[in-house]
Amino acid sequence: MGEEKKLGIVVVGASGDLAQKKVIPALFALFCQGYLPPDFHLYGMARSDFDSEGFRRKIAENLTCRYTPGEASCADRTEAFLSRCHYCQGQYSSSDSFLDLFQLMREQEGDGPVNRIFYMAIPPTVFLDVARALGDSGLVACGDRDEWSRIVIEKPFGRDRETSDILIREMQKVFSEDMTYRIDHYLGKEIVQNLMVLRFANLIFEPLWSRAYIRSIHIRWAEPVGVGQRTGYFNGFGIIRDVMQNHLLQIMSLLAMDRPVKFDAREIRDAKVQLLKAIRPLSLDDLVVGQYGASESGRQSSYVAEPMVPSDSLVPTYAAALLKINNSRWDGVPFFIEAGKALEERINEVRIRFHEVPGHLWGDQQARVEANELVIRIQPDEAITLKIMNKVPGLDLKLARTDLNLRYQSAFNALIPEAYECLLLDVIQGDRNLFIRADELAAAWDVFTPVLHQMEAGKIAPELYPYGSRGPEAARQLARRYGFFGSDLP
Ligand code: BG6
Repeated sequence: MGEEKKLGIVVVGASGDLAQKKVIPALFALFCQGYLPPDFHLYGMARSDFDSEGFRRKIAENLTCRYTPGEASCADRTEAFLSRCHYCQGQYSSSDSFLDLFQLMREQEGDGPVNRIFYMAIPPTVFLDVARALGDSGLVACGDRDEWSRIVIEKPFGRDRETSDILIREMQKVFSEDMTYRIDHYLGKEIVQNLMVLRFANLIFEPLWSRAYIRSIHIRWAEPVGVGQRTGYFNGFGIIRDVMQNHLLQIMSLLAMDRPVKFDAREIRDAKVQLLKAIRPLSLDDLVVGQYGASESGRQSSYVAEPMVPSDSLVPTYAAALLKINNSRWDGVPFFIEAGKALEERINEVRIRFHEVPGHLWGDQQARVEANELVIRIQPDEAITLKIMNKVPGLDLKLARTDLNLRYQSAFNALIPEAYECLLLDVIQGDRNLFIRADELAAAWDVFTPVLHQMEAGKIAPELYPYGSRGPEAARQLARRYGFFGSDLP
């Protein structure tokens, strides 16, 4: 349960999509389950012109009582939650605006110590302005009283290693590393959290978890929709910075890191940093970039036809990268990671392919032995499947690869929490295990920064692929070059 001290949660950028669709509904879910202290208040701050009543009406549009079935209790809880929500209109870089906010907070909270969380649901271009204005307004508790302040920021953290370092340095003038929670919401996803349990709480996987038994690993991320309303942001970043350098690299580091000495934030993040440092910086030869064109039916338009995208934009909406890890566990094992928008389906999964069984006990085609594969589907429809060889029932000898299947929906009779619920609860409880440490961020940027600079300097043109397709053909060629073949081909 949450701490009993007063808690003020400030959502900066409260009228935007992230705040309205993810952050505030997640806080409501925590509220419904009793995880927020009785004396908590939520303060929205943004440039939009609302009063607190208007803000509550806007919030109410996105609240669902998934944890409180039954109409009456849902209405009561919604009402109780909304009565704790307040709004302050202001400018992000103005310390006067934050003084107004402070005033509003004092009116609600009275005197005495209050713990504070500042959630930055704002574009990365204004992170620093807000942090400085917060610092100047004196709102940030510096730890010398019996209260704490924590800041939550969302990726992208910078555009490359250098800008990320600057952001870290400047932010630390106001919020120390201990006060900073860098969110990668994929780390809050249930099955991503299960990766460590799967690997380290089962005896059967760890002995096989190396180049000796694993032939390749494929991490695939696909969305069936284009960039939509977010072109302004996306065109400044592209898919490598939007998804690969963070979500996919985090999944890869949890999959490939060594066992941490202990299950605590410091040790886990040490193990991840060690792994990230062992990944060779990606080379241009091992990267394919693509951009979606119009769909074959002509119904969906191309990326460059989206609003605010320049017609000569080279920003990739798809990337496939072949990453290599230079350590004794993984040397020679290709990690093929792939992310794309406007593809044929929505999927995020990991396929771990084992080597083929050496020798041929059954020589003929009917009894062909295929390699084992462990498939971890992160979304949709979370599942873990182990593909193993079996004899097909019958009088003749026929072998087939079949599934040992764990589907979350049927195996666990429980609601799967939203990633943001879990991460926000961790911020409240001060658990930093699922947040990105500064040195981890630096190591993640080191994998991609050189190639991003080469791409941008060389004006590398992405290969066009039709909206709703499998993505660029060059990605299959890259995979073939590293030994993926037949049905194994990503
Ligand atoms: C965000 C990216 O971090 O994750 C988006 O910026 C992407 O481009 C989104 O669509 C996907 O999140 P989820 O949780 O829907 O898989």
